[in-house]
Order: sequence, then structure tokens, then C-alpha cells
Amino acid sequence: MASTALEMDTAELAALLHFYAEGGVDDLCEDAAIDRFEQSAKILQSRSRSQPQPAAAAPAASGQNSTGKPPLAGMSDGRKNVPQPLGPAPQASQLTIPGVAAFEDARALAASASTIAELRAALDGFTGCNLRHSAKTLVFADGNPEADVMFIGEAPGREEDLQGMPFVGRAGQLLDRMLAAIGLSRETAYITNMIPWRPPGNRTPAAHEIELCRPFIERHIALAEPKVLVMLGNVASKSLLDTDKGILSLRGTWMSRKIGEREIPAIPTLHPAYLLRNPAQKRLAWADFLSLQERLEQLKSD
Ligand code: URA
Repeated sequence: MASTALEMDTAELAALLHFYAEGGVDDLCEDAAIDRFEQSAKILQSRSRSQPQPAAAAPAASGQNSTGKPPLAGMSDGRKNVPQPLGPAPQASQLTIPGVAAFEDARALAASASTIAELRAALDGFTGCNLRHSAKTLVFADGNPEADVMFIGEAPGREEDLQGMPFVGRAGQLLDRMLAAIGLSRETAYITNMIPWRPPGNRTPAAHEIELCRPFIERHIALAEPKVLVMLGNVASKSLLDTDKGILSLRGTWMSRKIGEREIPAIPTLHPAYLLRNPAQKRLAWADFLSLQERLEQLKSD
């Protein structure tokens, strides 16, 4: 009879995990679904009965994050975007469900950043989003933060999580080819995601996860000051344009997104991962990229 994990010794468990990893398993789940929200709510309830609720973390005005570490290197300083492993995973009792405090914390931390490097440090210190606890790294941005154009995807996938860089897997390689086709590269474009941590199993980020990360992406856009925004796919387009319309009806139409006092021209287009699954739709993305190229050339001649 097969032994259960509880009956195995450390070496047997390690061999089993190795076997799964070799087979391409990168996420583990139980046979029956676990309602983590209910679990967390119970933990929070019992915690609030036994002690006062902790206050929201103070804004990282000094550039230090709440872990007390100095800010990480940011590309606006010309330094390399080095993958940074996240801190140790929290104990079950430390897992959070987003309460009002988490949203307030996100807004305060994002607003406190006055450079891209500070924003990265602020995100690194933000513990209010559960996605960071299952992700291996913070995937912040790649490319040139001074570029005229900023691309915003959805969330990191497995490769991105391992390397700490956005769009480095198959979809990223396609994005690089699309950029090259209109004369752009990571030297002349800035690339990031709505969500900086990989959702487990590459699931679509939940609405509350998007809302928790929204202050950070909005601040990121404000600090990078791109002349043009490109939203890649449904999640970035719907949430940044605040619409329920799907990407197939949004794509290819120039819109405007107000960030701070600035109206930024913005174009939604198809996500490269979608194009990998639906290669016939590449012609639509090509039309959008040509429109982008034209817009960028116009900006140069203005
Ligand atoms: N898909 C995204 O939206 N972002 C990445 O960084 C990679 C894949």
C-alpha cells in the first residue's frame, strides 16, 4: 500500500517533491478546496478578540520599507533590475485577508514614493496582498523608465517569478519580437504589470488583488511619466480604463488615462499570451502596434 506523506521520512519526501518538480508540477493543492478567506477571517476574528488591531503601517517616507531594509536598486538610478527573493513566507497566523487597513496601507505606501526606486522598496515592504506570500520574487519592471512608452501586462508567470523580471517567458519573447517589429526594444520601452507577484498557477488576479495593487501601478505611471501607455490584455485594459468592456472591443482604439494632472494617451491591445494561443489574431495586434508606432513618431516630430 502506498504510504502517505505523514509516514514518509525526510529523504522520501524530498525524493517525491523532486519527482513532482521534474514532472513540471509547480503548484500544490489539496484534494478538497480550502476556503482560505474563511480561515483567515477566523484567524483575524480570534486575533481581534485577544488583542487590539495593529495600526496601518506608516508610509515609507524615509525611503525605508516596513521590513527596515533600505530601498532596492531601481532602474531610474541606472542600476540593474536584480531579482530579489521575497522574505520568508509568513506563518498561517500571519496570513492576511485584505481589510480596509490593507487598502489604506497600499495607498499611503504608494503615495509616499517619490522615485521609482522608492516605489519598488514600498512594494517590497507591502505585506497586505496575499499573492506575495506564494510568489518567489517581486517582479517590478524592466526596460527603460525614461522611455516614451510604458507597457502594462497582467501579472508575472512562472518564468517571470523565477527571474524577477516581467515578460521573460514565451509571451515575453513574443512581446520582444513585436517591439522589434516597430523599432522598439527594452532600451526604448518600459515594461511592467498590474500585479507584481505571480498568482498561484497563473490564475487571473482576483478583483481585490487588482484593487490592492492599483495605487502602486498608478504611482508607477505617475513617476515614469510615459507619453503613451499600452495596456496588454483584458486585466490591464479593464482596470486601468475602468470599464467592463472586453479587450476585443477595446483594442486598437486610442483612449486617455488621467494620472495625477496628466492625461496620457492609452491604447489597449491583445496580450501576447493570448496571441500564442490564438495566432490568427496577431494581425489585430499588428494593426495596434502600427498605430502605436505612428503615434510615437508623431510625438517625436511635435
Ligand atoms: N504575462 C504578463 O501579463 N506579464 C508577464 O510579466 C508575463 C506574462
